[in-house]
Amino acid sequence: MAEATPSRMTGGLVDEPKVLIVGLGLIGGSLAAALRAAGFGQGGHPGTIVACDPSADEIARGIDMGLIDSGATQLASLVEGASLIVLAVPVLAMQSVMSELAALLPEAQVSGGAPQVVVTDVGSTKAAVRDCALRAFGRLPSGLVLGHPIAGSEKSGVSAANPRLYVDHKVILTPTSETSPGALARVTALWRACGAEVLEMDVARHDQVLARTSHLPHLLAFSLVDTLARQDERLEIFRYAAGGFRDFTRIAGSDPVMWRDIFTANREAVLTALNDFEAGLARLKLAVERGDSDAMLAIFDRASHARHYFDSLLNQTSYQAEYQMQQQGKLTFRAAPGGRVAGRIRVPGDKSISHRSIMLGALAEGVTEVKGFLEGEDSLATLQAFREMGVAIEGPHQGRVIVHGVGMHGLKAPAGPLYVGNAGTAMRLFAGLLAGQAFDSELIGDASLTKRPMGRVADPLRLMGAKIDTAEGGRPPLKIHGRQPLKGIDYDMPMASAQVKSCLLLAGLYAEGETRVREPAPTRDHTERMLAGFGYEVHREGDTCWLRGGGKLTAAPIDVPSDISSATFFLVAAAITPGSNLTLEHVGINPTRIGVINILKLMGADLWLANEQEVGGEPVADLHIRYAPLKGIDIPLDQVPLAIDEFPALFIAAANATGVTRLRGAEELRVKESDRIQAMADGLAAIGVTHTVVEDGIDIVGAGDREIAYGGGRIDSLGDHRIAMSFVVAALRAGEEIVIDDCANVATSFPGFTELARTVGLMVNEERGGSAS
Ligand code: S3P
Repeated sequence: MAEATPSRMTGGLVDEPKVLIVGLGLIGGSLAAALRAAGFGQGGHPGTIVACDPSADEIARGIDMGLIDSGATQLASLVEGASLIVLAVPVLAMQSVMSELAALLPEAQVSGGAPQVVVTDVGSTKAAVRDCALRAFGRLPSGLVLGHPIAGSEKSGVSAANPRLYVDHKVILTPTSETSPGALARVTALWRACGAEVLEMDVARHDQVLARTSHLPHLLAFSLVDTLARQDERLEIFRYAAGGFRDFTRIAGSDPVMWRDIFTANREAVLTALNDFEAGLARLKLAVERGDSDAMLAIFDRASHARHYFDSLLNQTSYQAEYQMQQQGKLTFRAAPGGRVAGRIRVPGDKSISHRSIMLGALAEGVTEVKGFLEGEDSLATLQAFREMGVAIEGPHQGRVIVHGVGMHGLKAPAGPLYVGNAGTAMRLFAGLLAGQAFDSELIGDASLTKRPMGRVADPLRLMGAKIDTAEGGRPPLKIHGRQPLKGIDYDMPMASAQVKSCLLLAGLYAEGETRVREPAPTRDHTERMLAGFGYEVHREGDTCWLRGGGKLTAAPIDVPSDISSATFFLVAAAITPGSNLTLEHVGINPTRIGVINILKLMGADLWLANEQEVGGEPVADLHIRYAPLKGIDIPLDQVPLAIDEFPALFIAAANATGVTRLRGAEELRVKESDRIQAMADGLAAIGVTHTVVEDGIDIVGAGDREIAYGGGRIDSLGDHRIAMSFVVAALRAGEEIVIDDCANVATSFPGFTELARTVGLMVNEERGGSAS
């Protein structure tokens, strides 16, 4: 018998001297098997499991299989001494079992603050079972805890009992105001011992949720299979049944009696769910009838990505990392020491431009074709958020995305909060864009994003007339009230932030008059360039840019260059390791992004550009770099905003230079995906690099030309993609292995990082482990 996960076993069960399972089918039998696997009644444990079932054969089989100690076909002989009674009978059989039980159990045993006997059930609908209990007991006893394990199988009978049936499955308990906390704790302990995750919900909610997630899909499967099976060409249909239809037949193969009972018991909630479904089906039918391909695409795209999206939303992790984590556990990078880099590579598309391509493409009139789109989690979350607002988006497929623009006023209210994963850019730009819509919206993100400041966009948006609620301290979630007339403002940004600037420009599209933003230092200007590319006039004079609201965007093709922020890891890798010689193709070299090139050159890097050209309004070039000894420098203040995302990697360059590198005026680093000054300082300390942290920067003492610059160690990336990748690069000059934890978020900006890194000589491997929690 397979073992249940030991960590899920609890002491709670040891207190149950006798568990009585009424109905020894698959569900009841599996419960007994799981309890046995968790050690109940085994090896000195005093508990016994008994069962009641109308079939004497099933009882005998249960005893033979070692699942139960004894059993009977009548309840009367079994109730005596039972401390926990589990009703595992079909919902429609519940009334008679409850009545029998009520007659057998002295009232005092199942009532009071600490009931002696606890009764629970496994029925798929809860209101009906609650009503049975009310009729049988005259009221709801405090010892009654209704429950529903969400697990099953097409098999039936005790012979199919599976001790792992509940492992990592959810069990919903539906306590009422009458339920005693002690009884609830005991039933919780029962299911936890079986490896299940226990959740609580109220009865009505449970029935509504299950009507949608379980009952409706079964109803549709039964109906579809039956309809097709009654048509003249049914033999053909079943002969050529392909994957999709086969899945329907699998679901329709479930126990008919059980499902009749469920639909009878949960009639109201099922009918409501069916009405909603019919309305959705009517919309789709209309789209098909009219040949409305945008409407069809919008529905299909949204649906085909729904599962990933909602999994990550529910768990508040980055968009796809959640899925990987569920499958494989937490991600650790192991970077072996030494090596050098050589070759010619192309890193993925620019994250900033990818976000903007979807946003402006969605608001444009016409179809925008995007090439080189970053298929990283952050930009995928942005893409999915627009699908949630009714925009038809095809792809991405090998970097190609087709956005069917809906025009400035064509977005539709999303059905729920928009989830933007790890992306500060998405949340801040969305805030501006959504402030101008005619519907309410809510923006939420993962754990890291939820800690980041949003007051910097909410405050100036409020000055424009927007109504925005934030959580305490100006943190996400952001609740944006629609239908607010916006007016242009003249805004002096307190910090050099392209996200704030872009947010205000996007809101400005919907505002009356001019929206002007002054930046204290130049920041990336992708929004301005792309707006211009879409035919929207954006002006600039010195440090101020502005636009007038009320115009429109016209779709235009977008060619996303490779991300200089991703290229940086390889630039630094080549810059610090003797013998390196690398070319990075088609990298975006927008003047507002090339701080890293300027800084590396100042440090002495042998770096040059070739093949310079302009694609879709953005300059690109191939970057060539060969090893040359680096020297420590004072980083010029004017380069800080131009290299803001590149500092984690530049700190590694500094650790390998001769002399001290000093960074100041970089307090913004403290509010990125992590506090990047502190996170890097902690990592540098772990591998033995001398440094001094100050509020707005850091001094790093470089190793000079020592072959081994520092040691190895274990680094916590704090879920920050750029911290993780920087320490992979650091390993090139380390004396020992560098192990980096919590790396799943690398996929937010650089999917396929380790594979690409290996092709140029970095010795890095991924390791999955730990449990998804
Ligand atoms: C970005 C702007 C920068 C940058 C971020 C992307 C953008 O943030 O750090 O990774 O796409 O506009 P700030 O505007 O907060 O400096």
